[in-house]
Amino acid sequence: MSTPDLKHFRDLLQSRTGIVLDASKGYLINTRLASVAGTSGYETVDALLADIRKAPVERIVEAAIDAMTTNETLFFRDQKPFDLLRRTFVDLGRNRRGPIRLWSAACSTGQEPYSIAMLWQEVAHLLPGVSLEIMATDLSRECLAKAQAGIYSGFEVQRGLPVQKLMKHFERVGESWQIKGDVRSAVTWRRFNLLDNPSHLGRFDIVFCRNVLIYFDTSTRKAILERIAGQVVDDGYLVLGASETVMGVTNAFQAGPDAGLYLKTSATRPAAARLTA
Ligand SMILES: C[S@@+](CC[C@H](N)C(=O)[O-])C[C@H]1O[C@@H](n2cnc3c(N)ncnc32)[C@H](O)[C@@H]1O
Repeated sequence: MSTPDLKHFRDLLQSRTGIVLDASKGYLINTRLASVAGTSGYETVDALLADIRKAPVERIVEAAIDAMTTNETLFFRDQKPFDLLRRTFVDLGRNRRGPIRLWSAACSTGQEPYSIAMLWQEVAHLLPGVSLEIMATDLSRECLAKAQAGIYSGFEVQRGLPVQKLMKHFERVGESWQIKGDVRSAVTWRRFNLLDNPSHLGRFDIVFCRNVLIYFDTSTRKAILERIAGQVVDDGYLVLGASETVMGVTNAFQAGPDAGLYLKTSATRPAAARLTA
Protein backbone atom coordinates (compact mmCIF):
# COMPACT_ATOMS: atom_id res chain seq x y z
CA MET A 1 0.00 0.00 0.00
CA SER A 2 1.55 3.31 -1.06
CA THR A 3 2.43 5.43 1.95
CA PRO A 4 1.38 8.82 0.47
CA ASP A 5 -2.02 7.42 -0.62
CA LEU A 6 -2.56 5.79 2.75
CA LYS A 7 -1.49 8.90 4.65
CA HIS A 8 -3.74 11.06 2.49
CA PHE A 9 -6.71 8.79 3.26
CA ARG A 10 -5.99 8.77 7.01
CA ASP A 11 -5.76 12.58 7.00
CA LEU A 12 -8.99 12.85 4.98
CA LEU A 13 -10.77 10.50 7.38
CA GLN A 14 -9.64 12.54 10.37
CA SER A 15 -10.56 15.90 8.85
CA ARG A 16 -14.01 14.72 7.74
CA THR A 17 -15.02 12.59 10.73
CA GLY A 18 -12.55 13.14 13.57
CA ILE A 19 -11.64 9.44 13.48
CA VAL A 20 -7.94 8.94 14.15
CA LEU A 21 -6.22 5.88 12.67
CA ASP A 22 -2.51 5.63 13.30
CA ALA A 23 -0.07 4.40 10.68
CA SER A 24 -0.22 0.84 12.05
CA LYS A 25 -3.88 0.50 10.99
CA GLY A 26 -3.14 -0.19 7.31
CA TYR A 27 -4.61 -3.71 7.68
CA LEU A 28 -7.88 -2.25 8.98
CA ILE A 29 -8.15 0.13 6.05
CA ASN A 30 -7.42 -2.74 3.66
CA THR A 31 -10.09 -4.99 5.18
CA ARG A 32 -12.77 -2.33 5.41
CA LEU A 33 -12.20 -0.86 1.95
CA ALA A 34 -12.09 -4.18 0.07
CA SER A 35 -15.83 -4.20 -0.66
CA VAL A 36 -15.92 -0.47 -1.56
CA ALA A 37 -13.08 -1.12 -4.03
CA GLY A 38 -15.02 -4.09 -5.49
CA THR A 39 -18.34 -2.29 -5.86
CA SER A 40 -16.67 0.84 -7.28
CA GLY A 41 -14.86 -1.07 -10.03
CA TYR A 42 -11.32 -1.11 -8.60
CA GLU A 43 -9.22 -4.26 -8.70
CA THR A 44 -7.38 -3.42 -5.49
CA VAL A 45 -7.67 -1.19 -2.44
CA ASP A 46 -4.37 0.41 -3.52
CA ALA A 47 -5.99 1.53 -6.78
CA LEU A 48 -8.97 2.94 -4.87
CA LEU A 49 -6.72 4.88 -2.47
CA ALA A 50 -4.63 6.23 -5.34
CA ASP A 51 -7.76 7.63 -7.03
CA ILE A 52 -9.09 9.05 -3.77
CA ARG A 53 -5.87 11.07 -3.63
CA LYS A 54 -5.45 11.99 -7.29
CA ALA A 55 -8.93 11.93 -8.88
CA PRO A 56 -11.54 11.79 -6.11
CA VAL A 57 -15.18 11.07 -6.93
CA GLU A 58 -17.27 12.32 -4.01
CA ARG A 59 -19.68 9.35 -3.98
CA ILE A 60 -16.76 6.90 -3.74
CA VAL A 61 -14.90 8.97 -1.15
CA GLU A 62 -18.05 9.06 0.98
CA ALA A 63 -18.52 5.28 0.68
CA ALA A 64 -14.89 4.75 1.71
CA ILE A 65 -15.26 7.03 4.72
CA ASP A 66 -18.52 5.33 5.66
CA ALA A 67 -16.79 1.95 5.53
CA MET A 68 -14.22 3.16 8.08
CA THR A 69 -16.81 4.01 10.75
CA THR A 70 -17.50 1.36 13.38
CA ASN A 71 -21.26 0.87 13.57
CA GLU A 72 -21.41 -1.79 16.27
CA THR A 73 -24.52 -1.31 18.41
CA LEU A 74 -27.28 -3.28 20.07
CA PHE A 75 -30.60 -2.81 21.81
CA PHE A 76 -30.37 -1.64 25.46
CA ARG A 77 -26.56 -1.65 25.18
CA ASP A 78 -25.01 -1.93 28.68
CA GLN A 79 -28.52 -1.80 30.28
CA LYS A 80 -27.42 0.49 33.17
CA PRO A 81 -27.84 3.79 31.23
CA PHE A 82 -31.40 2.72 30.43
CA ASP A 83 -32.14 2.02 34.10
CA LEU A 84 -30.81 5.50 34.92
CA LEU A 85 -32.81 6.98 32.07
CA ARG A 86 -36.06 5.51 33.40
CA ARG A 87 -35.44 7.33 36.71
CA THR A 88 -34.31 10.51 34.96
CA PHE A 89 -37.49 10.57 32.86
CA VAL A 90 -39.60 10.35 36.01
CA ASP A 91 -37.56 13.09 37.76
CA LEU A 92 -37.67 15.41 34.77
CA GLY A 93 -41.29 14.67 33.91
CA ARG A 94 -42.71 15.40 37.37
CA ASN A 95 -42.64 19.18 37.07
CA ARG A 96 -42.90 19.31 33.31
CA ARG A 97 -45.61 20.47 31.00
CA GLY A 98 -43.95 20.47 27.55
CA PRO A 99 -41.96 17.72 25.89
CA ILE A 100 -38.70 16.25 27.16
CA ARG A 101 -36.14 16.47 24.33
CA LEU A 102 -33.45 13.79 23.95
CA TRP A 103 -30.64 13.58 21.38
CA SER A 104 -29.11 10.25 20.42
CA ALA A 105 -25.89 11.55 18.82
CA ALA A 106 -24.13 8.86 16.73
CA CYS A 107 -27.17 6.56 16.71
CA SER A 108 -25.73 4.08 14.18
CA THR A 109 -28.48 1.73 12.91
CA GLY A 110 -31.07 2.92 15.42
CA GLN A 111 -31.02 0.37 18.24
CA GLU A 112 -30.18 3.08 20.80
CA PRO A 113 -32.97 5.58 20.00
CA TYR A 114 -35.50 2.75 19.57
CA SER A 115 -34.51 1.32 22.97
CA ILE A 116 -35.17 4.78 24.41
CA ALA A 117 -38.54 5.02 22.65
CA MET A 118 -39.57 1.57 23.99
CA LEU A 119 -38.49 2.57 27.50
CA TRP A 120 -40.51 5.77 27.27
CA GLN A 121 -43.66 3.79 26.50
CA GLU A 122 -43.19 2.04 29.86
CA VAL A 123 -43.01 5.26 31.90
CA ALA A 124 -45.24 7.61 29.91
CA HIS A 125 -48.38 6.66 31.87
CA LEU A 126 -46.67 7.99 35.05
CA LEU A 127 -46.19 11.39 33.43
CA PRO A 128 -49.52 12.59 32.02
CA GLY A 129 -49.21 15.62 29.75
CA VAL A 130 -45.50 15.00 29.10
CA SER A 131 -44.19 13.76 25.77
CA LEU A 132 -40.74 12.70 24.58
CA GLU A 133 -39.07 13.97 21.40
CA ILE A 134 -36.12 11.87 20.27
CA MET A 135 -33.67 13.30 17.73
CA ALA A 136 -31.32 10.64 16.35
CA THR A 137 -28.30 11.62 14.27
CA ASP A 138 -25.35 9.92 12.62
CA LEU A 139 -22.79 10.67 9.94
CA SER A 140 -23.41 7.48 7.98
CA ARG A 141 -26.21 7.66 5.39
CA GLU A 142 -26.27 3.87 5.21
CA CYS A 143 -26.80 3.53 8.96
CA LEU A 144 -29.52 6.17 8.94
CA ALA A 145 -31.38 4.47 6.09
CA LYS A 146 -31.38 1.18 7.99
CA ALA A 147 -32.37 2.91 11.22
CA GLN A 148 -35.27 4.67 9.57
CA ALA A 149 -36.57 1.46 8.00
CA GLY A 150 -36.41 -0.17 11.44
CA ILE A 151 -35.86 -3.64 9.99
CA TYR A 152 -33.51 -5.98 11.86
CA SER A 153 -32.30 -9.53 11.36
CA GLY A 154 -33.06 -12.35 13.78
CA PHE A 155 -29.49 -12.03 15.05
CA GLU A 156 -29.84 -8.29 15.69
CA VAL A 157 -33.09 -8.60 17.64
CA GLN A 158 -31.56 -11.31 19.81
CA ARG A 159 -28.86 -8.88 20.95
CA GLY A 160 -30.07 -7.05 24.06
CA LEU A 161 -33.79 -7.16 23.36
CA PRO A 162 -35.91 -9.11 25.87
CA VAL A 163 -38.35 -11.44 24.13
CA GLN A 164 -41.40 -9.65 25.61
CA LYS A 165 -40.26 -6.40 24.01
CA LEU A 166 -39.66 -8.18 20.71
CA MET A 167 -43.23 -9.53 20.77
CA LYS A 168 -44.72 -6.21 21.83
CA HIS A 169 -42.87 -3.77 19.57
CA PHE A 170 -41.91 -5.73 16.42
CA GLU A 171 -43.66 -7.57 13.63
CA ARG A 172 -42.26 -10.19 11.29
CA VAL A 173 -41.30 -9.14 7.78
CA GLY A 174 -40.14 -12.29 5.99
CA GLU A 175 -37.04 -13.52 7.82
CA SER A 176 -36.59 -10.15 9.57
CA TRP A 177 -38.34 -8.07 12.22
CA GLN A 178 -39.65 -4.53 11.80
CA ILE A 179 -40.21 -2.19 14.69
CA LYS A 180 -43.84 -1.03 14.85
CA GLY A 181 -44.97 2.37 13.63
CA ASP A 182 -45.71 3.86 17.07
CA VAL A 183 -42.08 3.35 18.18
CA ARG A 184 -40.67 4.32 14.78
CA SER A 185 -42.62 7.57 14.65
CA ALA A 186 -41.25 8.60 18.07
CA VAL A 187 -37.84 9.23 16.49
CA THR A 188 -36.76 12.02 14.11
CA TRP A 189 -33.66 11.21 12.03
CA ARG A 190 -31.04 13.66 10.72
CA ARG A 191 -27.63 13.24 9.15
CA PHE A 192 -25.24 15.17 11.36
CA ASN A 193 -21.46 15.26 11.70
CA LEU A 194 -20.31 15.73 15.30
CA LEU A 195 -17.52 17.98 13.97
CA ASP A 196 -20.18 20.51 12.91
CA ASN A 197 -22.14 23.12 14.84
CA PRO A 198 -25.29 21.46 16.27
CA SER A 199 -27.19 24.68 17.10
CA HIS A 200 -29.87 24.03 14.44
CA LEU A 201 -30.86 20.82 16.28
CA GLY A 202 -32.24 22.85 19.20
CA ARG A 203 -31.82 22.35 22.94
CA PHE A 204 -32.01 19.03 24.75
CA ASP A 205 -32.69 17.80 28.27
CA ILE A 206 -30.67 14.64 27.73
CA VAL A 207 -27.93 13.70 25.25
CA PHE A 208 -26.77 10.15 24.61
CA CYS A 209 -23.34 10.29 22.95
CA ARG A 210 -22.07 6.77 23.43
CA ASN A 211 -19.23 4.76 21.99
CA VAL A 212 -18.10 7.34 19.46
CA LEU A 213 -15.76 9.69 21.36
CA ILE A 214 -13.33 6.77 21.73
CA TYR A 215 -12.42 7.16 18.04
CA PHE A 216 -11.35 10.82 18.41
CA ASP A 217 -8.29 12.53 19.87
CA THR A 218 -8.60 14.56 23.08
CA SER A 219 -8.92 17.97 21.44
CA THR A 220 -11.71 16.71 19.17
CA ARG A 221 -13.51 15.11 22.14
CA LYS A 222 -13.25 18.38 24.06
CA ALA A 223 -14.62 20.44 21.16
CA ILE A 224 -17.51 18.01 20.58
CA LEU A 225 -18.44 17.84 24.27
CA GLU A 226 -18.38 21.63 24.55
CA ARG A 227 -20.60 22.02 21.49
CA ILE A 228 -22.97 19.44 22.95
CA ALA A 229 -22.98 21.34 26.26
CA GLY A 230 -24.12 24.41 24.33
CA GLN A 231 -27.24 22.45 23.28
CA VAL A 232 -28.04 21.05 26.72
CA VAL A 233 -30.41 22.94 29.03
CA ASP A 234 -29.22 23.94 32.50
CA ASP A 235 -29.61 20.89 34.73
CA GLY A 236 -29.52 18.69 31.62
CA TYR A 237 -27.78 15.34 31.31
CA LEU A 238 -25.14 13.65 29.18
CA VAL A 239 -24.78 9.87 28.91
CA LEU A 240 -21.49 8.45 27.62
CA GLY A 241 -20.35 4.93 26.77
CA ALA A 242 -18.97 2.61 29.43
CA SER A 243 -15.33 3.36 28.53
CA GLU A 244 -15.78 7.10 27.98
CA THR A 245 -15.51 10.04 30.37
CA VAL A 246 -15.44 13.85 30.51
CA MET A 247 -12.74 13.74 33.19
CA GLY A 248 -9.54 15.31 31.97
CA VAL A 249 -11.28 16.39 28.75
CA THR A 250 -13.62 19.27 29.65
CA ASN A 251 -15.31 20.98 32.61
CA ALA A 252 -18.49 21.56 30.59
CA PHE A 253 -19.99 18.47 32.27
CA GLN A 254 -19.33 16.91 35.63
CA ALA A 255 -19.90 13.43 37.01
CA GLY A 256 -23.37 12.89 38.43
CA PRO A 257 -24.24 10.65 41.38
CA ASP A 258 -24.35 7.58 39.10
CA ALA A 259 -21.46 6.35 36.96
CA GLY A 260 -21.94 7.16 33.29
CA LEU A 261 -24.42 9.99 33.86
CA TYR A 262 -22.97 13.50 33.62
CA LEU A 263 -24.57 16.81 34.53
CA LYS A 264 -24.10 20.00 32.61
CA THR A 265 -21.94 22.45 34.52
CA SER A 266 -23.95 25.64 34.80
CA ALA A 267 -23.65 28.98 36.54
CA THR A 268 -25.67 27.62 39.46
CA ARG A 269 -23.68 24.37 39.54
CA PRO A 270 -20.03 25.32 39.00
CA ALA A 271 -17.48 22.80 37.77
CA ALA A 272 -16.14 20.57 40.53
CA ALA A 273 -12.66 21.77 39.58
CA ARG A 274 -13.67 25.37 40.27
CA LEU A 275 -15.44 24.47 43.51
CA THR A 276 -12.30 22.95 44.93
CA ALA A 277 -10.04 25.71 43.58
C1 LIG B 1 -20.09 2.37 17.60
S1 LIG B 1 -21.40 3.30 16.93
C2 LIG B 1 -22.24 3.79 18.40
C3 LIG B 1 -23.73 3.56 18.31
C4 LIG B 1 -24.50 3.78 19.60
N1 LIG B 1 -24.33 5.13 20.10
C5 LIG B 1 -24.10 2.77 20.66
O1 LIG B 1 -23.45 3.15 21.63
O2 LIG B 1 -24.44 1.60 20.52
C6 LIG B 1 -20.52 4.77 16.43
C7 LIG B 1 -21.28 5.62 15.42
O3 LIG B 1 -20.63 6.87 15.33
C8 LIG B 1 -20.79 7.36 14.02
N2 LIG B 1 -19.80 8.43 13.78
C9 LIG B 1 -18.46 8.33 13.65
N3 LIG B 1 -17.92 9.53 13.45
C10 LIG B 1 -18.94 10.42 13.48
C11 LIG B 1 -19.02 11.82 13.34
N4 LIG B 1 -17.93 12.58 13.13
N5 LIG B 1 -20.23 12.40 13.41
C12 LIG B 1 -21.35 11.67 13.63
N6 LIG B 1 -21.34 10.33 13.77
C13 LIG B 1 -20.14 9.72 13.69
C14 LIG B 1 -20.60 6.13 13.15
O4 LIG B 1 -21.19 6.30 11.88
C15 LIG B 1 -21.27 5.05 14.00
O5 LIG B 1 -22.58 4.81 13.58
